[in-house]
Amino acid sequence: MNPPEFAYRRELPADDPAIEDLHARAFGPGRFARAAFRLREGVPHHPDLSFVATLEGRVVASVRLTPIRIGTLPALLLGPLVVEPAFKGKGAGKKLVRIALDAARTGGHRLVLLVGDEPYYGPLGFARLPPYAVTLPGPADPARVLIASLVPNAAVGLTGRAESVR
Ligand SMILES: CC(C)(COP(=O)(O)OP(=O)(O)OC[C@H]1O[C@@H](n2cnc3c(N)ncnc32)[C@H](O)[C@@H]1OP(=O)(O)O)[C@@H](O)C(=O)NCCC(=O)NCCS
Repeated sequence: MNPPEFAYRRELPADDPAIEDLHARAFGPGRFARAAFRLREGVPHHPDLSFVATLEGRVVASVRLTPIRIGTLPALLLGPLVVEPAFKGKGAGKKLVRIALDAARTGGHRLVLLVGDEPYYGPLGFARLPPYAVTLPGPADPARVLIASLVPNAAVGLTGRAESVR
């Protein structure tokens, strides 16, 4: 069977209910306690750097980037990345991450942080930070705190607290 032909575009305000529904089903109520959620709490995601995959007009996957600060440096937080369960493993997740990183780079951003699985995000340009070099406003397994440098060496010597930008 041919893989589904997803379309990719910027997220629109009208996509919000469909994306919230994806989050609720993928992460459940526990999502509100995650360190990454706390970093995003009350802060709007970046409208130009958040993308969806659609199939026949319906939102089936989403990625958001949100402005944060690491120490004194501006950065972006990637997440949530979520794919409708029926469409997992068909490339939408990786494609959305690549689109979001390209848009961030084009927009002059230098650093993208996330909390996630290194085996998945490593090939997309993310690497582990030295344990506790960057701390989050909540518990996070240091092996899952990953950074992508959008310009060479942007993360060299990076330390500090990741904080919301309000
Ligand atoms: C994780 C998720 C976003 C991946 O998106 P996807 O569209 O299903 O993944 P893709 O099709 O882009 O990539 C699939 C590949 O990644 C691998 N993969 C998926 N999740 C992985 C993980 N957690 N760790 C390592 N590899 C993973 C698959 O095995 C597959 O490998 P293959 O290409 O060698 O077959 C999706 O499964 C999802 O929504 N999961 C629930 C929510 C979640 O956990 N989000 C991530 C929060 S950090």
